[in-house]
Amino acid sequence: MLGQALPRIDGPYKVSGAAKYTSDRRVENMAYAVAVGSTVAAGRIARLDVSKALEVAGVIEVFGRGNIGKLYKPSPEAGMFDEARPPFADDAIRYYGQYVALVVAETFEAATAAAGLVEVSYREAEPNVALDLAPDDEPNEVSQRGDPAAAFDAAPVKIDQNYVTPAETHNPIELHATVAIYDGERFTIYETTQAVTNTRNVLSEILGVPREKVRIIMKFLGSGFGGKLWPWTHGTLAAAAARSLGRPVKLVVTRKQMFEAVGHRARTQQRVRMSAERDGTLTSLQHDAVNAAGMLDEYDENCGEATPYFYGTDNLRVTAAQTRRNIGSPTAMRGPGAVPGLFATESAYDELALALGMDPVALRLHNEPAQDQDLAIPFSSRHYTECLTLGAERFGWSQRTPEVGSMRRDGTILGWGMAGCSWIAARFGAEARVELHADGSARVLTGTQDIGTGTYTILAQYVADATGIPVERVVVEIGDTDLPPGPISGGSMVTASMVPAVLEAVRKAMKSAVGLAAKGDAAPFKGVPADQLVFADGRIGRKDSTAGAVPFADILQAASVAFVSGSGKAEGSFGQEHPKYSLHSYGAQFIEVGWQPEIARLRVHRIVTVVDAGRIINPRMARNQIEGALVMGVGMALFEEAHYDPRSGAPINSNLADYVMATHADAPHMDVTFLDYPDTKLNELGVRGVGEIGLAGVAPAITAAVYHATGARVRVLPVTIEKLLLGP
Ligand code: MOS
Repeated sequence: MLGQALPRIDGPYKVSGAAKYTSDRRVENMAYAVAVGSTVAAGRIARLDVSKALEVAGVIEVFGRGNIGKLYKPSPEAGMFDEARPPFADDAIRYYGQYVALVVAETFEAATAAAGLVEVSYREAEPNVALDLAPDDEPNEVSQRGDPAAAFDAAPVKIDQNYVTPAETHNPIELHATVAIYDGERFTIYETTQAVTNTRNVLSEILGVPREKVRIIMKFLGSGFGGKLWPWTHGTLAAAAARSLGRPVKLVVTRKQMFEAVGHRARTQQRVRMSAERDGTLTSLQHDAVNAAGMLDEYDENCGEATPYFYGTDNLRVTAAQTRRNIGSPTAMRGPGAVPGLFATESAYDELALALGMDPVALRLHNEPAQDQDLAIPFSSRHYTECLTLGAERFGWSQRTPEVGSMRRDGTILGWGMAGCSWIAARFGAEARVELHADGSARVLTGTQDIGTGTYTILAQYVADATGIPVERVVVEIGDTDLPPGPISGGSMVTASMVPAVLEAVRKAMKSAVGLAAKGDAAPFKGVPADQLVFADGRIGRKDSTAGAVPFADILQAASVAFVSGSGKAEGSFGQEHPKYSLHSYGAQFIEVGWQPEIARLRVHRIVTVVDAGRIINPRMARNQIEGALVMGVGMALFEEAHYDPRSGAPINSNLADYVMATHADAPHMDVTFLDYPDTKLNELGVRGVGEIGLAGVAPAITAAVYHATGARVRVLPVTIEKLLLGP
């Protein structure tokens, strides 16, 4: 079962429409809420007039600061959240689109019409959405070793450049949505979330009720990309409205609101200084990052995440800083920190290779470290150099001629570029229960969730593999806080996190079934000591002989037991204070672009990627993750940027026509290879997980290829045609 390219078991539900997404939920007596967002980005509410809105037929209530009911600030221990201020907490406006009122009506149409009639006047202040980022406070030192400044000054070859990644907006197909039910005591909330347990913990504190009185359910997610990791204010508003009205309330944010109050990838500005000996030995690396944050949050994009350990150098300094803007809180977006960080450092690496007159692959191979120099510990399982050499071979890198514009095919100038990448590997804490039923089926239960990445299928594979029960007879129950708490679907970590808990649970359940085989008058192995029996291939039999083994279902039936079960629990490794090993995934991206200057047409033709992500449990789904991430990388490099109007502070390309993303038409040919080395320092199966690693390194490989084709070095993403027309 492990390593098999099974199709996802939730696929038929999705393609047939049977899969219920949050906004598909309809419950009895449900009312519809539409949130009204501020049309200024800074200032105060002077007057909120809801009288016209209340006159619309079907409107039930319009909520504002005065009547939403008590909402509390979550304590820092509650869990993860980006926007700490409860909605409607004061009259201050800190970003465009901040919710100022909530209309609830019998129909969505009435609520939408009435929302347009809520009259708000503001005492407006000048919004700050300035693009140039300078730290508000002294930068934090993330990592430091040796004397990078002195080494930089003394080095024969050096580069000192600034790189910028813009604000990017998560645009999953599925809009954020909440259906909140309050029965006078308990909340049941359907929510578009990548983390049901965290949402429960944070919302219970905001609503001021014990955790056990809040249940969060999320069965299918139309993708999240980090935007649905932590709770946003619309969920609180829907719950508070349901509490106030004593009726279920559904709230689905609009596509425009997706750009305003539910997070985005923070804009970053990064200075990278690198120096080397003439042979390519890296003598220093300084990486200073600033990211834009919201007015009240402390969002740190952590651009330097991969910098301290990725390449060897004795002299290094990494800093991080923030600067506040009148923009909604940023949040995690696929590969937070490392992805924008690697755009800067891998771009700088390409520039350093150029300055040295060295091949960029050779330069990277030359600076492969023997251990994690930041933590002074060994790597658990690092095969980065093989990613580079195998990727170069599959791509045909040896055919590359380094001079700008020197390669052509059919009249098109070709650009070949490459970059390396890395992403954290860790486990979050997890619990699971496994049941083995008398009808021969199994169930696995855990409060994690499948965000479209394949968790349903992976969990079924784990149980099928351990028990020998056919995978189609394993029922997976996830996405509900009534289940044993499971990990967040973030950081590409669920597949690794679930291994120890599920294996412990399934082994205990099998042991319980084995115990029944020897006990009781009707037991098939009556009198045989349980330690002489074994559960294998769905049957229980003697250890020394497969003959006479009995299906486990028969044993349960003979014992008149409906099912046996076992529970498993594992602590997480994420954020460990003194890890023994440095755990990461690695990869290399090799990319060809085509440039036709006559018509200013740039295309990404093909990507070869080699990924070292531990053991691959399901190559079909793993490949699907990487291919999706590569297409997202094309968008990050060439298209994606949220624009905030400097006058109003409004995100002005807040729709799918003006916020350009890569589509199928932009997808290059993709060649994905997994090295498949198990990393047993992380879990017994050697699984690390995939997803974010596929996005890391794509943008700098594309800008390197663009330079090779055009001579224009684009350090401010995205690579727009205008930047190329300006030339080198
Ligand atoms: Mo991912 S940004 O950890 O959902």
